[in-house]
Amino acid sequence: MKTALVTGGLGFIGSNLVKLLNQKNYYVINIDKCTYASNFNNIDKKIKNYEFFKLDINQTYILKNILNKYKPKKIFNLAAETHVDKSIESPITFIKSNYLGVFSILELIRTKKIKTKLIHVSTDEVLVVLRRGKSQKKRMHIIQAHHIHLQKLARTY
Ligand SMILES: NC(=O)c1ccc[n+]([C@@H]2O[C@H](COP(=O)([O-])OP(=O)(O)OC[C@H]3O[C@@H](n4cnc5c(N)ncnc54)[C@H](O)[C@@H]3O)[C@@H](O)[C@H]2O)c1
Repeated sequence: MKTALVTGGLGFIGSNLVKLLNQKNYYVINIDKCTYASNFNNIDKKIKNYEFFKLDINQTYILKNILNKYKPKKIFNLAAETHVDKSIESPITFIKSNYLGVFSILELIRTKKIKTKLIHVSTDEVLVVLRRGKSQKKRMHIIQAHHIHLQKLARTY
């Protein structure tokens, strides 16, 4: 049985992904910090081949031990602060989870040479924010430029 690790697996999308992977015969490890956005009722109490860890993705020492123990073929990172209003009230929480958290996972995989595939789920606004009024050609150029930067970043890891 293959193992997949989902971060943010008590959230809206993450919990559905946990269910889907489980149906596809994956042993699923779910890691979630349990913020206000998480909901244990999203996961069936009787689910099998599943383990949950209450953990912040920035807790790399514990995360490293989990990765070494379960050796997941895939890691799906959905752990994130997601409510825009809160990003204005408390930006630091967003910086910790959405920036430093992703960086922590990437660095952990890179420095410890962990053999896995990381699938990072984020918002489309990471790619580009388009302003009205730009010509179609210019808009396409901006989008392509952002894609190139993301591909370069992905190749670095
Ligand atoms: N819901 C959408 O419509 C939508 C659309 C496009 C992109 N996305 C992106 O998909 C991802 C998941 O979205 P969602 O709607 O499921 O979010 P959500 O807010 O419902 O769930 C996020 C989960 O991540 C957990 N979490 C937050 N910080 C954490 C940390 N530091 N360590 C561990 N767990 C942490 C929370 O406890 C929560 O359970 C986000 O990156 C979001 O931007 C969502």
